[in-house]
Amino acid sequence: MKKKITLPVAGFDPVPSLSQSAQVAVRVVRSAPPGADAVGIPVAEDGAVPKDLGLDRATLAAAGFDGKVGQALLVPKAEGPLLVAVGVGRAGKADASALRDAAAAFARVAAKGAHLATSLADAGRAKPDVAAQAVVEGLLLARYRYDALKSEPTGHPVQQVSLITTTERSRATTAGAERGRILAAAGALARDLANAPPKHLTAERLADVARRIAKKEGLAIEVFDRDGIAKLELGGLLGVNAGSVEPPRMVRMTYRPKGKSGGHLILVGKGLTYDSGGINVKPRDPMHGVMKMDMSGAGAVLAAMSALSALGVKATVTGYLMCTDNMPSGSAMKMGDVLTQRGGRTIEINNTDAEGRLALADGLVLATEQQPDAIVNIGTLTGACMLALGDQIAGVFANNQRLAEQVKAAAASTDESVWQLPLDKRYRKQLESNVADMENMGDAAPGAITAALYLAEFVGDTPWAHLDICGPMQVTADESWRSRGATGFGARLLAELAAGFTPPRR
Ligand code: BES
Ligand code: MN
Ligand code: ZN
Repeated sequence: MKKKITLPVAGFDPVPSLSQSAQVAVRVVRSAPPGADAVGIPVAEDGAVPKDLGLDRATLAAAGFDGKVGQALLVPKAEGPLLVAVGVGRAGKADASALRDAAAAFARVAAKGAHLATSLADAGRAKPDVAAQAVVEGLLLARYRYDALKSEPTGHPVQQVSLITTTERSRATTAGAERGRILAAAGALARDLANAPPKHLTAERLADVARRIAKKEGLAIEVFDRDGIAKLELGGLLGVNAGSVEPPRMVRMTYRPKGKSGGHLILVGKGLTYDSGGINVKPRDPMHGVMKMDMSGAGAVLAAMSALSALGVKATVTGYLMCTDNMPSGSAMKMGDVLTQRGGRTIEINNTDAEGRLALADGLVLATEQQPDAIVNIGTLTGACMLALGDQIAGVFANNQRLAEQVKAAAASTDESVWQLPLDKRYRKQLESNVADMENMGDAAPGAITAALYLAEFVGDTPWAHLDICGPMQVTADESWRSRGATGFGARLLAELAAGFTPPRR
């Protein structure tokens, strides 16, 4: 046995936004409060320019601002808060997604302002609660920075948001703004987890964070160590872990609503804290550079779970986090090895880098045994999905169209785009093995589909959807409400899915 090397990471908090987001104050007011650092004034492409801005359209146009969504113009002033003209597109037309983008542009231009005030939520055609939620999400997410390891923080987090609206819209705006605060915090938590270095966020530490969140949010939690995992016969997770000096963890956490449960949804996340590829080591350095984020699926599940009680979700929700790293060593699984997933299916390993499906499949079997109304798994599964859909869109597969539609609706509301890909059985033969029940990898094409077909084998006829978030797990530059680095993709989507969940008919 190799000796476990410990780096000086003791006392390090991988999730600083947990304490930060608790400090964000969101208020609904009638007019801009005197203490605001910056005031955003929505300006449409057409119609009158609001008087408060003190500029006419010709002057704005001369400065290159014509009111398009994504534009924000700082108006210099001798004193008082910064004034920012915030583009909202055609007058009265902005939807939630446009408002989220507009708010992000405002937050970026008012780069250092800790207290942002705006009447943006009243600018479009979205209902006041939906609009307020989107605006708060946009403001808070755009200013996210991962500063946990900087000697001097570089970010300027938003500490206070004042949404300016009318008395009639005040109640709905307050409710929406609070949802926005909760969901932005979930997004930040998912980003923190994925941005954390692999030595700072091992499977053990990821499970520790889950414990912390379960305690804070009143969730039931069980953490399984290597022995516990062996007892459960999670052969996939153990196989992936075999080469590592870091022990694996499997986390099961459950949210139970107060009152009658509106169905049971199970979320399963791929928690690869580092994916070197294993014995089939990844060929290119840039790939290794982002593989600390291969736990983004588990991060999204954990972050979504963290929001459920604050959102007052009516469904029972169970989350499984399948956590390990994937390392090459003398004890690592080899090509040709055969392992047994929970439930007994034998798998011939024809590529140790197709490890996410091995870890997830055990979780899917455990989930299926609970006979829930639906299972949704999420993970950074295939480069093929990223090649197909790029860094903006995740792939979604499902064996139940009603569930697929619920996932798509949640994705549309959070602006975490998904596109449904076919679970086409004709490719299933690519997974046939000479020696075992299946192989873990198909041909190069269609890689995203064969990964999904592999997972589909483990859910029986339970309504199930699979999110492949390989592409949108990160962005390389700031863009709207996505800050460079991990995007936290899926955290808000899964929380919204849970909030709107209705058991799909089979
Ligand atoms: N974690 C990777 C997928 C990935 C690639 C995530 C790039 C984020 C960025 C996954 O485990 C993997 O290695 N997939 C292989 C599958 C293949 C071996 C069937 C891939 O996509 O090449
Ligand atoms: Mn891999
Ligand atoms: Zn992986």
